[in-house]
Amino acid sequence: MMNAPRAALLAALVLAGCGSDPVPPSPPANTETWDWGLPPGYPKPKVPADNPMTVAKVELGRRLFYDTRLSGNGTQSCASCHAQEKAFTDGLANAVGSTGQAHPRGSMAIVNVAYLSSLTWGNPILGSLEEQALLPMFGETPVELGLAGKEEELLARLSDFPQYHDMFADAFPGDPEPIILDNIVKAIAAFERSVVSYRSPYDRYTYEGDPSALSEAALRGKELFFSERLECFHCHGGFNFSDSVTHAGSTFTETMFHNTGLYNLGGTGAYPEGNTGIHEITHLATDMGRFRAPTLRNIALTAPYMHDGSIATLSEVLDHYAAGGRTIEAGPHAGVGSENPFKSELINGFDLTPAEKADVIAFLEALTDEALLGDARFSDPWKVEQTGGEP
Ligand code: HEC
Ligand code: HEC
Repeated sequence: MMNAPRAALLAALVLAGCGSDPVPPSPPANTETWDWGLPPGYPKPKVPADNPMTVAKVELGRRLFYDTRLSGNGTQSCASCHAQEKAFTDGLANAVGSTGQAHPRGSMAIVNVAYLSSLTWGNPILGSLEEQALLPMFGETPVELGLAGKEEELLARLSDFPQYHDMFADAFPGDPEPIILDNIVKAIAAFERSVVSYRSPYDRYTYEGDPSALSEAALRGKELFFSERLECFHCHGGFNFSDSVTHAGSTFTETMFHNTGLYNLGGTGAYPEGNTGIHEITHLATDMGRFRAPTLRNIALTAPYMHDGSIATLSEVLDHYAAGGRTIEAGPHAGVGSENPFKSELINGFDLTPAEKADVIAFLEALTDEALLGDARFSDPWKVEQTGGEP
């Protein structure tokens, strides 16, 4: 129900020349080499040739990401649903848009999105951050930022703010009229690419060679996470804890979608309407309930869990996997998830003692990157201006 209109919307936007028109790459002026600041061995993101990273562009993108001028009624920005202190999620099971409409799914972490080979919970055709940004801006099913039909108004609003003239000119040098939609989404995408998480205890242990960064419990949890008994790593493996990743120099890109047995309505294998995963786009019966494995970086901060926020805690997520799928006893969603015929063959259930469960959770908590949460490069620039930098 949701994705067909969204795909049509996206196609229309692309046809209108907003999504991926062949604008020549920005001239090399002002392209200070981008410093990702990553530790040795940590893969670098892939950057589209027509949207190189520059300091000026990332700074403009940060401003736009936090600017409520980007919603139809001036109440929301991207950051309303993607808050830095929650690893750029919103703490809600279902995100709520600027006009009060509930989204069928939960907000996702804008962390390491530069590495994703497909975007959002279950969309095999949405690959670029530039295209993705158009959905919350102009989407109507549901309304998020509510800019449909207001593109001219948006451009006028941004043009009315003198500071943007200089910022757009710096970010897109040589562009005679830089305040255009194509550049807005390019700048936002550049900012999103800059948000990389690489300073968690796990990263200090893995990339900085600091053996004391992980507690004994987290180390035991790591063994379990990467074991054939729990199978987590098959879908949440690699540096980004997801099997749908791409990065600079990667030789192949994987995009995988899995049914974890979260639902099995009436024993038919069905997931609740409007949230059936990539099935909404492919309409293939076997794609029912298949979603992308999200990154587990900063997972302790992004509750509630799963595409619809239907699991409240990490402990309950482990119960779901231990049972080989979730059983819902009664109500409209009743069903035995472990018997879902479309479930991944990697979800088979396992026994976990309470001590082992605590260890796995300790490991997941060691993926929290405190430095990212307080990093001024990713914080709200408007707030800093109003308060002179005081929080
Ligand atoms: C009303 C809340 C809301 C607003 C406002 C919002 N988002 Fe989101 N965002 C979501 C939800 C919900 C999802 C998951 C969408 C889905 O699966 O269909 C999401 C997903 C994403 C993703 C995909 C992340 C991933 O792991 O695949 C990106 C990137 C993103 N949003 C960027 C943005 C940007 C950029 C803006 C501003 C232009 C924005 N969002 C505004 C709620 C919001
Ligand atoms: C077959 C692939 C697969 C395996 C194996 C797997 N997961 Fe997942 N995981 C997923 C998918 C897909 C989702 C999203 C499912 C949804 O929303 O319906 C997910 C979601 C999650 C979430 C919630 C993420 C969020 O942002 O809300 C956590 C936490 C998680 N998995 C942890 C684990 C742990 C721990 C294990 C091992 C016990 C594990 N997973 C095994 C594929 C897998």
